[in-house]
Amino acid sequence: MKKILKAPFLVQTVRLLTNMYRLGWDERNGGNLSYILKEDEVKTYLNTKKVLRTIPLNFDASNLAGKYFLVTGTGKYFKNVQYDPETNLGIIRIAQDGNNAELLWGFADGGSFTSELPSHLMSHIERLKIDPKHRVVLHCHPTYTVAMSLVHELTEREFTRSIWKVCTECIVVFPEGIGVLPWMVCGTPEIGRLTADKMKQYRLCLWGAHGIFGTGQSLDEAFGLIETVEKAAQLYMIASSQPLKNLITDEQLKDVAEAFKLNYNKDFIN
Ligand code: 13P
Ligand code: ZN
Repeated sequence: MKKILKAPFLVQTVRLLTNMYRLGWDERNGGNLSYILKEDEVKTYLNTKKVLRTIPLNFDASNLAGKYFLVTGTGKYFKNVQYDPETNLGIIRIAQDGNNAELLWGFADGGSFTSELPSHLMSHIERLKIDPKHRVVLHCHPTYTVAMSLVHELTEREFTRSIWKVCTECIVVFPEGIGVLPWMVCGTPEIGRLTADKMKQYRLCLWGAHGIFGTGQSLDEAFGLIETVEKAAQLYMIASSQPLKNLITDEQLKDVAEAFKLNYNKDFIN
């Protein structure tokens, strides 16, 4: 059996979470990750017959029965992950009944998976229907994105337009736009269902006055989506203290979409 701490999926996850902490997007225990692992990949490092603990999910995830996930722990700090991955992270398999998670590795202090697991798993279910290569759901509290959610109209159309109009790359990176939910109590199956509903159309979902979810086939893709929104939100928040004179126009957005042959959200352009 190979050493799990050397597994590329674990090394890359630790690097990502450490970087996100340094970016200031994951204060205290803020943020969480779930990453679908392939069975073959897990079997190289773990005896998958050895279940350490069974943890109730309290919602139905039977669509994901038998799937393996690397997940962050609830209450755990991204800043600490690099020093003690086995306490701050866990590898779970969704049990055949769909109502429990089988812990195969990690949460060494008796801890459990993130409180946002309903949003993560329900989002995985929806993204997998659209993209069989989908693997990652990432949540964090990026400073300027959350700041913008406090001062900007919280509709998908208007929020996406403002982001697209400050930074040329945005429409290229997320031509479908950004899903938006108003402030809600987090950590519940209800916010999970609404987030997953947005994931039928978007790879990103903003939670007003809280944070953002990004998804993708890889850690880089999920991170890159959030990073691009955050960069544009930073530009918007800095620039909008002055009259905004040179925003990208709707015609210019269409020109970019044509040049890059984008399947963009036409409802969001005048
Ligand atoms: P967890 O510590 O349970 O992952 O919660 C952090 C968070 O960001 C809640 O939205
Ligand atoms: Zn959060």
